[in-house]
Amino acid sequence: MTIIDGKKTSQDIKDEVRDEVAKLKKGGVEPMLAVILVGENPASQVYVRNKKRACEYTGIRSLSYELPENTTEEELLKLIDELNNRSDCDGILVQLPLPKHIDEKKITNAISPKKDVDGFHPVNVGNMLIGDECFLPCTPHGIIELLHRYGVVLDGKKAVVVGRSNIVGKPMAMLLLRENATVTICHSHTSDLKKECTEADILIAAIGKPKFFTPEYIKNGAAVIDVGMDRDENGKLCGDVDFEAVKDKCSFITPVPGGVGPMTIAMLMQNTLISSSHRMR
Ligand code: GUN
Repeated sequence: MTIIDGKKTSQDIKDEVRDEVAKLKKGGVEPMLAVILVGENPASQVYVRNKKRACEYTGIRSLSYELPENTTEEELLKLIDELNNRSDCDGILVQLPLPKHIDEKKITNAISPKKDVDGFHPVNVGNMLIGDECFLPCTPHGIIELLHRYGVVLDGKKAVVVGRSNIVGKPMAMLLLRENATVTICHSHTSDLKKECTEADILIAAIGKPKFFTPEYIKNGAAVIDVGMDRDENGKLCGDVDFEAVKDKCSFITPVPGGVGPMTIAMLMQNTLISSSHRMR
């Protein structure tokens, strides 16, 4: 059994990005990411802080906007429009969720697809589906990167994705399909979830229920990827997978914390780097 070290892998990727950023800077291009946070959601504050830190580490300039909860949709749209038109801005990230009075879809659609380093804009989602060049969503792309770097074979394997969100489950299934896996998407209406999961060579758990996946859900020798960021009964951070109970049945498993989470940020840095390299086109 191998524990997949997302922290180490994300560090490797950030180092690769840092080298490339240094080269771009020598050529006169300074990559820049605009990070926008609206309101005071504590989890979002942590994510945004970590994203800005990763920018600092990789040498990407970050433009930070911490806007009050009562920011209007119009104000936010105006800021996005300004950033869309700034030639020194390569990526625009609006941290989700947004306050209820702001329409997330409207905001996502307002970001130029060329600066949509989250890969949430319908143009990028569509291009991903077709297999054309686009920004890939950071969490599922980070998972593919982890599986590749650990030599997990996907071609011809059965992959089961549990969860069907637009941010993780659906794009995850598409990227696994692109790797020639046979993909099943399960969700709250799946009739026999246990049966589906026990057939999975690769299991992606993304449902947001602490320690839900116990050994009865796991095929012997499976690679198990845990996207959960949950709290257990003692308020301790844990994933959707009961790590201790399940680990000895797996060939590969990601821990929480230190698995998928850090990869999301590393891939965001990679997307921003790619975007800035397009300035030369
Ligand atoms: N909220 C939860 N995950 C994400 C993410 O990957 N990007 C943004 N912008 N917001 C999120």
